[in-house]
Amino acid sequence: MQTKTALVKDILKTKVMGHRGASLLGPENTLASIRAAAATGVKWVEIDVYLIAQGGLIIFHDATLDRCTSGSGVTREADPAVVSTLDAGAWFGSEFEGEKVPTLIEALECIQSLGMGLNLEIKHDTADIENIVPTVLDALKEYWIDNDKLLISSFNHAALRMVFDLDPQRHLGQLYEDIPADWQAQLEQIHAYSLNCYYASLTKEQAQAVKAQGYKLMCYTANDSQLVANHWEWGMDVIITDDPTQFAALI
Ligand code: G3P
Ligand code: MG
Repeated sequence: MQTKTALVKDILKTKVMGHRGASLLGPENTLASIRAAAATGVKWVEIDVYLIAQGGLIIFHDATLDRCTSGSGVTREADPAVVSTLDAGAWFGSEFEGEKVPTLIEALECIQSLGMGLNLEIKHDTADIENIVPTVLDALKEYWIDNDKLLISSFNHAALRMVFDLDPQRHLGQLYEDIPADWQAQLEQIHAYSLNCYYASLTKEQAQAVKAQGYKLMCYTANDSQLVANHWEWGMDVIITDDPTQFAALI
């Protein structure tokens, strides 16, 4: 009998993925951060996509603009025209002053021009999935070329279910901070490619169970290789890190 593992196409040609670009090397979720990741030699980046006013899609993590831009206020309500004027680099370092909050399309073009793979995390903090999911999928259909260099991930299971219903060939990663008891049913429901979880909550038994079911196992966010030394032995396939240079030997 063919195992599930044999059926999973191995799209990941990497053990290391930059987080929010490479958020210890450049201002997170900006093109500068993505380029900083590429400069380390890492071949995949994770970034967050966020729905704002008027159906705008930006690369951003927080529910408010305050921490990572020169602006303020609720991200979900932000006007795309206003967001495009904000500085998203100066908070990180004066050499990044003038860096912008990228739109999803700008990030897709940048990542492809660098020849990288993308783990696109759909954020859902206050946005309804009926608005963000189809809009993201439309942008991917138009601007992303190689489906084998794309993983769509989210903590929001309903969002991933909607992706699967609308575009079943996409590779999906279910995110968990703590892996719930019914993880297997959830992953089956969306024909998941991977389970992506917080490295410090993962146990050896959980890791082995995920691998036994044929899923890829990715862990976020470790910035010191010692923190996940055991995880490789447990079967972890990919580490998502703010600083890929800490895993240089694996790149
Ligand atoms: O995709 C892994 C990681 O990005 C999930 O958490 O909050 O950093 O987006 P967060
Ligand atoms: Mg993320």
